[in-house]
Amino acid sequence: YYLGIDIGTSGTKTLLIDQSGKVLAEADAGYPMEQPRPGWTQQDPEDWWNATVKTVRAVMRQSKVDKNDVKAIGLSGQMHGSVFLDAQDNVIRPALLWNDQRTAVQCESITSAAGSREELIKLVANPALTGFQAPKILWLRDNEKRNFDKLAKVLLPKDDIRRRLTGEYVSEVSDASGTLLLDVQARNWSTELLGRLQLDRSLLPDVVESEDVTGKLTAAAAKQLGLTTQCQVVGGAGDCAAGAIGNGIVRSGLLSTSIGTSGVMFVHSDEPSIDAAGRLHTFCHAVRGKWHMMGVNLTSGGSLQWWVENVIQGLAGVPAAKSFEAATAEAAGVPAGSGSLVFLPYLNGERTPHADPHARGAFVGMNLTHDRAAMTRSVMEGITFALRDSLAIIESMGVPVRQIRASGGGSKNKLWRQMQADVFGKKITTLKVEQGPAYGVALLAAVGDGAYKSIEQACKATIEVAEETKPDAKAKATYNELFPIYRDLYGNLKDSMH
Ligand code: XUL
Repeated sequence: YYLGIDIGTSGTKTLLIDQSGKVLAEADAGYPMEQPRPGWTQQDPEDWWNATVKTVRAVMRQSKVDKNDVKAIGLSGQMHGSVFLDAQDNVIRPALLWNDQRTAVQCESITSAAGSREELIKLVANPALTGFQAPKILWLRDNEKRNFDKLAKVLLPKDDIRRRLTGEYVSEVSDASGTLLLDVQARNWSTELLGRLQLDRSLLPDVVESEDVTGKLTAAAAKQLGLTTQCQVVGGAGDCAAGAIGNGIVRSGLLSTSIGTSGVMFVHSDEPSIDAAGRLHTFCHAVRGKWHMMGVNLTSGGSLQWWVENVIQGLAGVPAAKSFEAATAEAAGVPAGSGSLVFLPYLNGERTPHADPHARGAFVGMNLTHDRAAMTRSVMEGITFALRDSLAIIESMGVPVRQIRASGGGSKNKLWRQMQADVFGKKITTLKVEQGPAYGVALLAAVGDGAYKSIEQACKATIEVAEETKPDAKAKATYNELFPIYRDLYGNLKDSMH
């Protein structure tokens, strides 16, 4: 049996699978996200650990599997965050998260230390973006000198859980790519960039491939989790790569869309293709020796959540648990294009394609015929247009896209599945059972333990495609007309947003 643990932003999800990939039990535990100032986001790593212990114990209890039979654990988690540790492994301050926007100044200093944006992209395949880990380390140095002086190690969220499970400081290539310190082509730290930033290599963990075994549980961790010291922990993956593996995106031609708090367009690539303009991320895939490109929208499902919680619930008096379904059902009655009402989903800045922490949301084109339902629909369309921006860049780079698999909240809602097919102008498939990142890393654990020869083989044996949604010709044509208008709005409104 294998465990997959995903340290998400709103909570941790753990599941237990058998060797055939069948899910035997799963459990969730939530925790808060602090926002001490607009655009600042933090969490206490202790909450992640408590949620890990709680959910592992819950799946072991539910499944009644003997602890001696749990052979390996795979770890996944929110990417880019920074757990700052002192020499005694104490957490120095709350961890800064992937959606934290406080590091614009440090991004500029990284770019100038590299020489230019182009030089930086040559070193680490990506430009400096506020959410990434390296600018967070520099932020600590610039703003909390006393904390920086204590700093002995910086770990990504899931790698801090690994430290507590195994006592080892290890990361793996997919998540390490999101630090901005990895030479993505060579799949190891960029000593060149570390030198230019005057950061010591000893601050960072070692890096392995995602399926490699990184250690076994310590006696203390085994006791706390109710497992044994024979249980291995494999590298695992950042949640985007882990989710993509859970969707079977492990060969050329496959792309997944995922709508959660953030929205992600993730495409497998046999080569480390780089967008010269740096609009897409080029990261190592959790498939040995492969890469992926991805576009990330920071406030995707998060925009719909904002809309439903702040406007719909208040106005309609719909009970909280039903509000999302009620709102989208109402939106389904509005024709595609929402009567030319366009929504920009940049409520907390945007990454792809604008890389602008100051970008903001907007409704544009409102008239007297627009009602609440049209506005809901327009929010969903704006989020989907933001994903199309990434798809357009991926296709312009010549990366093959033969099949699109939808996952996350956007795949569970019928209207949103159809909207994706119509906005992308392509067929959308969904999986029979979609389990997300925790499932992807449980499969990596199975590969690390030798149950499968490779992650490609594990996916082939376990993942089944179920439903297909075809684009509707009329809606597709409407969106083809509206998309260029959506695209121009950011440039036209940018100066009013700051
Ligand atoms: C990816 C990213 C987010 C987080 C969410 O680059 O920042 O998708 O990983 O957990």
